[in-house]
Amino acid sequence: MRMEQLVALCKRRGFLFQSSEIYGGLNGFWDYGPLGVELKRNVREAWWHNMVTAHNDLAAPAGAPEPYAMTGLDCAVIMHPQVWKCSGHYDLFLDYFVDCRESNRRYRYDQIAGRWVECDAQRVFVTSYQSGDDAAAEIEQKALKFFKLRAKDKDRLRWEPGVTTLDKVGETSRVVGPDAKSLGTLTAPREFNLMFETYTGAVRDESSKTFLRPETAQGIFVNFKNVLDSTRLKVPFGIAQIGKSFRNEITPRNFTFRSREFEQMEIEFFCRPDSSAAWYRYWRDRRFRWYVELGLAGERLRLRDHDPDELSHYSCGTADIEYAFPFLAPGEFGELEGVAHRGDFDLRSHMEGKLVRAGDDFAVETDEHGRPRYRGSGKDLSYYDDETQQRFIPHVIEPSAGADRAALAFLCEAYNEDEQPDEKGVAQKRVFLKLHPRLAPIKAAVFPLVKKDGMPEIAKDIYAALKPRFPAFYDEKGAVGRRYRRQDEAGTPFCVTVDSQTLADGTVTIRDRDTLQQWRVPKDACAEEIRARLG
Ligand code: GAP
Repeated sequence: MRMEQLVALCKRRGFLFQSSEIYGGLNGFWDYGPLGVELKRNVREAWWHNMVTAHNDLAAPAGAPEPYAMTGLDCAVIMHPQVWKCSGHYDLFLDYFVDCRESNRRYRYDQIAGRWVECDAQRVFVTSYQSGDDAAAEIEQKALKFFKLRAKDKDRLRWEPGVTTLDKVGETSRVVGPDAKSLGTLTAPREFNLMFETYTGAVRDESSKTFLRPETAQGIFVNFKNVLDSTRLKVPFGIAQIGKSFRNEITPRNFTFRSREFEQMEIEFFCRPDSSAAWYRYWRDRRFRWYVELGLAGERLRLRDHDPDELSHYSCGTADIEYAFPFLAPGEFGELEGVAHRGDFDLRSHMEGKLVRAGDDFAVETDEHGRPRYRGSGKDLSYYDDETQQRFIPHVIEPSAGADRAALAFLCEAYNEDEQPDEKGVAQKRVFLKLHPRLAPIKAAVFPLVKKDGMPEIAKDIYAALKPRFPAFYDEKGAVGRRYRRQDEAGTPFCVTVDSQTLADGTVTIRDRDTLQQWRVPKDACAEEIRARLG
């Protein structure tokens, strides 16, 4: 499947629209349409149900070191600015960008792909802002243009092996920018904090500056004590949160994959330090299985442990759950979720002040006068274990997923095409979304075969019986074949059709989206039949 096909289907069927489209759109922002809103809601609900509501805290699930509890929170998007100072986001949540003096465009430093090439004793680094194969092809074309060569003279170019990124090259003077014709038009890289700034209250100055949260996690850490004090939870336990996060990405791209406003589904799991490694392995495997169970099976999904040099400043271990999105080059994967062992970094930072690595441990960061750079809350966020009579700062395992990326991966995986004969027996291409029934926006559509002989009335009664149980759709317009095609593209697992036999014996046909198998059931039994098959 090509990404353009999925993007077109999402627009055509109402899964996703560009935000503010009638004004030309706003880069990095997306609106979910009538089907998309249901799909994303189903993703969130599948996550919340599996991780929180249906979790049995009296028995340890497979692979878990011991039983544990799960609970939830829904925190404010805007928090006290000190939260972001102590979490490290204020100083460290940075990307690097370069500007091009020729094209007046801005690029993320680590996303400019390029390759060294030599011709007539001149060696230059030719770049592209595409990824994968598209980048390689564009770089070749641009090198020919730069050296004023025709395609037939391409053997005069001597390429150094491999496409790499500009941040690995570390200089800009011998670089041809992604949209430039001349050499050396890119500026030196500069820092850019990804947090969106805003002001609270009427006065707009440094003292009223606040930030839109770039992750939901911090709301959980700062409420750790509130949750402990208001419940009877004991470590180990997890707190889950689903909510919007905001990052002013320099170059949002690849549909909803990298947006400026997106939704996260995060768990902060608090445990004893001596069992945290076992809990890390448990959550890594458990979260991977969640995607498999909802249909991302096979080689396109993988679990990748980070190399030690990739780990964040606080992390003792991180694994990414990744998916081979169709917009990536063959062999490349994009992150769906990170599962991180964060040690006691976050709770300690919010107690003591911003922490930095000091050998094998952390120490409060100080300024040039030896004073804490950012003070923590000073509140005691440690935990007292009655059984062992020990006090400790819990370690945290954080499975952090993106609802939009998960929805996009489910859509990519679901996109299917086959050929089916139409009413005249002519083979026609059929596009269908093979979504897991739990994720499908509409579970069943009901059609009268024709708009007469009392069929619409029977079909409307069936629709009325289905609607309170699960999302259903009624359609009587156009040829029945076209109505099936529309539902196939919406990912509706079952279609119920009222036909002339219904008038004779009271049965209807149910059609399966994936197998196209059709079978008859009494009309009063079809709600139960579909419910059972939805799983
Ligand atoms: N609290 C940890 C944290 O936020 P992250 O890897 O920066 O970790 C977690 O983000 C998840 O949030 C990612 O795996 C991804 O699914 C989603 N995410 C992050 N940035 C995103 C963006 N710009 N657009 C869409 N989803 C994003």
